[in-house]
Amino acid sequence: MSNKRILLIIGGGIAAYKCLELIRRLREQGVATRTVLTKAATHFVTPLSVGALSNEAVLTNLFNLNEEREIGHIRLSREADLIVVAPATADLLAKMAGGHANDLASTVLMATNKPVLAAPAMNPHMWLHPATQRNVAQLERDGVTIVGPDVGEMAERDEAGPGRLIEIPTLVETITTALAISPTRSGSNTSTSKKAKGSLAGRHVLITAGPTHEPIDPVRYIANRSSGKQGYAIAAAARDAGANVTLISGPVTLADPDDITVRHIETAQEMLEATKAALPADIAIFTAAVADWRVDGKTNSKIKKKKSGAPDLSLIENPDILKTVAKKRKGRPTLVIGFAAETDAVVKFGTKKLKAKGADWIVANDVSATTGIMGGDRNTVHLITSNGVEDWPDMAKEDVAKRIITQAAKTLSARIKAGSK
Ligand code: C5P
Repeated sequence: MSNKRILLIIGGGIAAYKCLELIRRLREQGVATRTVLTKAATHFVTPLSVGALSNEAVLTNLFNLNEEREIGHIRLSREADLIVVAPATADLLAKMAGGHANDLASTVLMATNKPVLAAPAMNPHMWLHPATQRNVAQLERDGVTIVGPDVGEMAERDEAGPGRLIEIPTLVETITTALAISPTRSGSNTSTSKKAKGSLAGRHVLITAGPTHEPIDPVRYIANRSSGKQGYAIAAAARDAGANVTLISGPVTLADPDDITVRHIETAQEMLEATKAALPADIAIFTAAVADWRVDGKTNSKIKKKKSGAPDLSLIENPDILKTVAKKRKGRPTLVIGFAAETDAVVKFGTKKLKAKGADWIVANDVSATTGIMGGDRNTVHLITSNGVEDWPDMAKEDVAKRIITQAAKTLSARIKAGSK
């Protein structure tokens, strides 16, 4: 059982009632929840029901002398391992982005030195409003992890679109992932384990691997031929170098490696959420073959064959996970490494990708069918950095992994030394 603690800030939205379930599920995981309700939230859930479920103090008022004497707002903001804002309403997000501190919730959020995770929920028009989008972008730059919202039916029946609070099991998983590896908002995971020896001892390495599956309907999906072997080999090499490793894996047939935190996801959007939840990291390596597109919308029934021909599938672009992390202004891993799977002009396209994605290194490889690289056990790669291109010989994927990790550990150590001067 964990002895982790979160501070849950419940905003005033219709989804607030779902937080009762959240508290229960977290308790099952051994996570204690202390709660702050905004004034608006008390119209949707009562301090009594929240307190009964959490078995902890529920606080509502910054200017309540008794509450302040018992647990001052500064202590409140520091005693948790993680602050979770759910539902994060448009108003609460605006306050957070603007740095307001005029009630208990916003004051705690300003005073904290702990990681903050926000799960927005609101009407789709409010979510898509430029002001909300601006606030969310600002919060992400400030290092806040935003999870969701989901797309789907809303409490107002005639409304549909992005704005539903992310499903509680997903939120629980995101929180437990964050608790496992994000002890403070800034800096890296420096917890020392008994195996913490080697060039990456005490460092956190984040790796994405495998394909993503993008559903067409409940039974069909868009996929690619990635096996996950190269990413899994890099995860094992980082672990062997003493790192704490988080591996975010799409659907593959490989066994979970020992002593590595593995998060299984299916879609690109889930991979992005799991990646954000796993930050901060010292090194992030993006080996996953993320699907570039997903089917727009969601259908809960199998699409039937029609005499009139094939269905019209409209595709929309997936988020670029590598680019999102590489271009973070705050909380960017010290070393961000991407892969480029190409079938032509491998180095030329890889070099273009280095700039476009904002990565420090690109590991480019030729995945034409004749090379057997996709799904195979060997790889021929070119390491592209701002210093030029290294052409590596044909090697087993394990050896490519070891060489990447050895060079990454050296570069990380040099950058840390240079930064501390
Ligand atoms: O643009 P392309 O897919 O060729 O870029 C490859 C690199 O970008 C890989 O490191 C891959 O893991 C990453 N990527 C990503 N998210 C996407 C697409 C690619 O992280 N949506």
